[in-house]
Amino acid sequence: MICKGQLELDEMVKQAQKSTINGKVANYIPALAKAERDVLAVSIFDGADLCFVAGNSEERFTLQSTSKVLTLALALMDCGEDKVFKKVGMEPTGDPFNSISKLETQIPSKPLNPMINAGALAVSSLIKGRTVEEKVQYLLAFIHKLSGNNKITYNKEVAQSEYETADLNRALAYFLKQHHIIDGDVNELIDFYTKQCAIELTCNDLARIGYVLANEGRCADGQEVIPFEIARLVKTFMVTCGMYNASGEFAIKVGIPAKSGVSGCILGAVPNRLGIGIYGPSLDEKGNSVAGMKLLELLAEHYHLSIF
Ligand code: DON
Repeated sequence: MICKGQLELDEMVKQAQKSTINGKVANYIPALAKAERDVLAVSIFDGADLCFVAGNSEERFTLQSTSKVLTLALALMDCGEDKVFKKVGMEPTGDPFNSISKLETQIPSKPLNPMINAGALAVSSLIKGRTVEEKVQYLLAFIHKLSGNNKITYNKEVAQSEYETADLNRALAYFLKQHHIIDGDVNELIDFYTKQCAIELTCNDLARIGYVLANEGRCADGQEVIPFEIARLVKTFMVTCGMYNASGEFAIKVGIPAKSGVSGCILGAVPNRLGIGIYGPSLDEKGNSVAGMKLLELLAEHYHLSIF
């Protein structure tokens, strides 16, 4: 079992870490550019223990797109499938995460899936709350339950840095408003979305969240936080769209439901087995952690973690 063989695991981390030189830290959100490129940290949670930890698993990073999995689960729990999927589709795009191109060619003009930015903005517009702050607190309360850590909050500097530079996301949101996918104030939606993306946690927290998804929506103590059917649905999106236009290759090489974020994190959920949290800020051109993906490939191969 994975919790044994610490030496083998350490060796895999060392090997994966070498690939950090093949990527770059995200800089289109200025505050993310401060990250150190050669970092690689990982935590694996099996429901009983954090059974494997390497690197600085207490270092904090922001969720970025990984948050899209959590807002999707929350929106589905609150609004139901019919309402959510009226605003966002279920198909992978094969395009970069922030692409605008398919919005114009689709009829009706709704985003193809909730993992790309346009789809995530549509989902975020469904999160409950009268004000941005209420929505943020509501989402944080959900994340506290998933992770068992009620200290998690968002990083104000990262949120502000993205808010000031989020013109492409604003353009997507205005497009969606024009086509009645979202209503309300676009800047308030961007304010909420950038705070959602700036929620800050550690690999240990991420591994525990992954475990809830892996464990059909139940925490390690058996408490249901996400209904089984929604946990299943969310994991399916992680497989088909979680690594954007690298999702196909990732499914073949790794085969673990996973979601990446441009901070360099990856949330993994091995059904009925493990939650995985990875932080490695060196990214490939598609916005996925280079060393994180390499490590998942090594782990999946060695411990037969592929779901296929
Ligand atoms: O909206 C953005 O561009 C970022 N807040 C999140 C993008 C992201 O994490 C894409 N993931 N790999």
